[in-house]
Amino acid sequence: MTEMNREEAQSELADLRQRIEYHNHRYYVLDDPEVSDADYDRLMRRLMEIEAQFPDLVTVDSPSQRVGAEPLEAFGEAPHGIPMLSLDNAFNADELREFDRRCRERLDAEVVDYVAEPKLDGLSLNLRYEAGKLVTGATRGDGRVGEDITANVRTIRSIPLRLHTDDPPAMVEVRGEAVIRRTDFDSLNARRLDAGERPFANPRNAAAGSLRQLDPRLAAQRPLTFFTFGVGDADGLDAADHWSVLEQLRRWGFRVNELVKRVRGVQACLDYYEQLVEQRDALDYEIDGVVFKVNGLDQRRALGFTARAPRWAIAHKLPAREATTTVARIEPSVGRTGVITPVANLEPVQVGGVTVTHATLHNEDEVHRKDVREGDTVMVRRAGDVIPEVVSVVTEKRSGDPPQWRMPEACPVCGSEVLRLDEEAAHRCMGGLYCPAQRIGAIIHFASRRAMDIEGLGDKLVEQLVNEGLVKTVVDLYRLRKDDLVELERMAEKSADNLLRALEASKSTTLPRFLYALGISQVGEVTAQALARHFGDFDPLMEADEETLIEVPDIGPVVAQSIAHFFAEPHNQEVIDGLRRAGVQWEAVAGARKDAPLAGRTFVLTGSLEEMTREEAKERLQALGGKVTGSVSKKTDYVIAGADPGSKLDKAERLGLTVLDEAGFRRLLDEHG
Ligand code: IVH
Repeated sequence: MTEMNREEAQSELADLRQRIEYHNHRYYVLDDPEVSDADYDRLMRRLMEIEAQFPDLVTVDSPSQRVGAEPLEAFGEAPHGIPMLSLDNAFNADELREFDRRCRERLDAEVVDYVAEPKLDGLSLNLRYEAGKLVTGATRGDGRVGEDITANVRTIRSIPLRLHTDDPPAMVEVRGEAVIRRTDFDSLNARRLDAGERPFANPRNAAAGSLRQLDPRLAAQRPLTFFTFGVGDADGLDAADHWSVLEQLRRWGFRVNELVKRVRGVQACLDYYEQLVEQRDALDYEIDGVVFKVNGLDQRRALGFTARAPRWAIAHKLPAREATTTVARIEPSVGRTGVITPVANLEPVQVGGVTVTHATLHNEDEVHRKDVREGDTVMVRRAGDVIPEVVSVVTEKRSGDPPQWRMPEACPVCGSEVLRLDEEAAHRCMGGLYCPAQRIGAIIHFASRRAMDIEGLGDKLVEQLVNEGLVKTVVDLYRLRKDDLVELERMAEKSADNLLRALEASKSTTLPRFLYALGISQVGEVTAQALARHFGDFDPLMEADEETLIEVPDIGPVVAQSIAHFFAEPHNQEVIDGLRRAGVQWEAVAGARKDAPLAGRTFVLTGSLEEMTREEAKERLQALGGKVTGSVSKKTDYVIAGADPGSKLDKAERLGLTVLDEAGFRRLLDEHG
């Protein structure tokens, strides 16, 4: 950096600070950034550079300070200019009408103008500005005195460190709610899980936890957003109504919720409420009610306060989405694809207007992470249309030491082996062909066009056949008789004939189709083809162990594990036997023998070839039984290097492997092809 004098530094700093805060506002308040992240970072770096050179010019309201100051020993006390009250609640429309009636009566008015605002579910803050500068940020505390969390508050980018005005009031307390938006919450929890930390139960706890910890540098990393909903004490602020206060706050650089609305009379309040109930799931933040506030400030003064709450406002609560209840049992539930989910059977409880009796625990890791045990008191949550879930355990209420829950080793529905594939969170039942829980899904897949291609056997018919008890496994399809079929609803004689003909035709199939039709987890069409090509026939594949399977091109350990366990399951063997006895057959795949010329050899391709694409080269090698992998290791037999080879060639040379150029590769193909 070129030398600059103090004065130049001072003036450039002022300019940079203003520009950075302008862009913060565009980004964090208006959701409408004007510059790229890179441009923003450049301004920020320049600011830091100058501040490093002139440390005494660093001010508390410099944007550089938003990354967080030194940790504190404890929070100090911060008295509020005027108390932060709470709100009275209305739990239904009648209670809201009653509130409106009282207001009208006291004001002697026929109709009252209100402002309707979503009631955000976060942490309440009081921000004190003196001569336009943020001096204190505090929690609500007991309503009169809060905790001084100024250092944490300064890290929230949607809170202006200075009011955007040349003519600020001498003093003003800005009030509002700090929240973590749902999308931010999900990524925050994902990061915590990755780092091996406990995830937060909900966005509210995350917001409160973030602001209540003593290291501002940690708070700075939490994606907090501040929405203002009014002012407390003020000196030098003129306004006739709440609506103009909100507009003033917006001009000063705050975020005012975009759904605030002026409403006239109680019916308009009720309509607003209904609308918000509808919108709730689509919002990116949690709300737990609607606040209705008398708009006129004179009217507010006339109405006054009770001991705990203003008479001019009320919170109309939305149905709660969380409730506590007890877990009677934790049961494994087998889904249509064989995935086994632990489900908590609950003492029935009302959540958001619906009786909830079951909640998902997702998978075994989740049960252990949340440490849910049978008999526990738990918090359950139902948001929108999603399945209710257990959020957390009320550990204080646990009695005794109930055992940890374990995933069963055998499928609770069919008794087949239960396996957790490496790298997967889910456990699965391995009895895919046999398990009643998977029956309908398995049969639909078996009959589908790219599998056994049984024309006329659609989803509806499969359901009918299973529900009537005519078909239990795919083998039963080949035992269907015309008499059974014509008994079914909507099954004419002609369609019965057609179906039987299609079933008969499907018996002559190909090995890849048959393999794909079995519905082995992780085995799609491409893998089925690779298996068929490699093994040539069914029996060697069925007998292959995991190590042998890994040798097949493109098959990794997880897929190999899944295939081996599928064929090891006696229930599946039985069904496969049944299919063969029913006459299902295929031809061995020609040319795919274990003694194929390049069987057991591993190749790596690098650089570009003149005569063919890499993909073509790969197919040629695979056709001769070779295995093509993506990275060079000691196990690689040949590296084929075209023009402009990459680092793979260096590595091959280091390992002393055989390297073929394009001409050498050509010769190899000619020799064996
Ligand atoms: S007005 C005297 N408006 O709800 C009136 N409060 O139970 C003070 N809250 O502590 C509150 N959104 O943290 C108001 N739009 C909103 C609100 C809101 C959330 C919280 C606030 C307060 C609590 C009152």
